[in-house]
Amino acid sequence: MSLKKSDRPVGPAVVPVKFVMEDPEGLTGKTDPIAEFKGGEGQSLLELAMDHGINIEHACGGVCACSTCHVYVEQGEKSLSEAVEAEEDRVEEAPGLQRNSRLSCQCIIEGKGPIVVRVPAWNRNAVKE
Ligand code: FES
Repeated sequence: MSLKKSDRPVGPAVVPVKFVMEDPEGLTGKTDPIAEFKGGEGQSLLELAMDHGINIEHACGGVCACSTCHVYVEQGEKSLSEAVEAEEDRVEEAPGLQRNSRLSCQCIIEGKGPIVVRVPAWNRNAVKE
């Protein structure tokens, strides 16, 4: 499914976000496991990743109706929107659930960062809905 673009206003790309990929080839076709970009306030981590060729699964199109966009926020969680109940319910379905688990489509950049996100390898094999 294609990513549903939000109509949130997005600020200038000034917030540093680092993606650490457990399966970089599966996500990008390249072997480098680290990718760093600048995101803008109002942008989701999934949108930022997809804009830069990191193909995180998003079976529901980014509307909090699956758990395939699961990531771990390793740093900078205070620079992201807080998880609402709907996200907490969904993310519990993700394999490998951890305390820092989030759905990347629901993580909206709201602060100055820096943000570090780990993308688990098994997201690539998640069952599509
Ligand atoms: S893409 Fe389905 S919940 Fe994020």
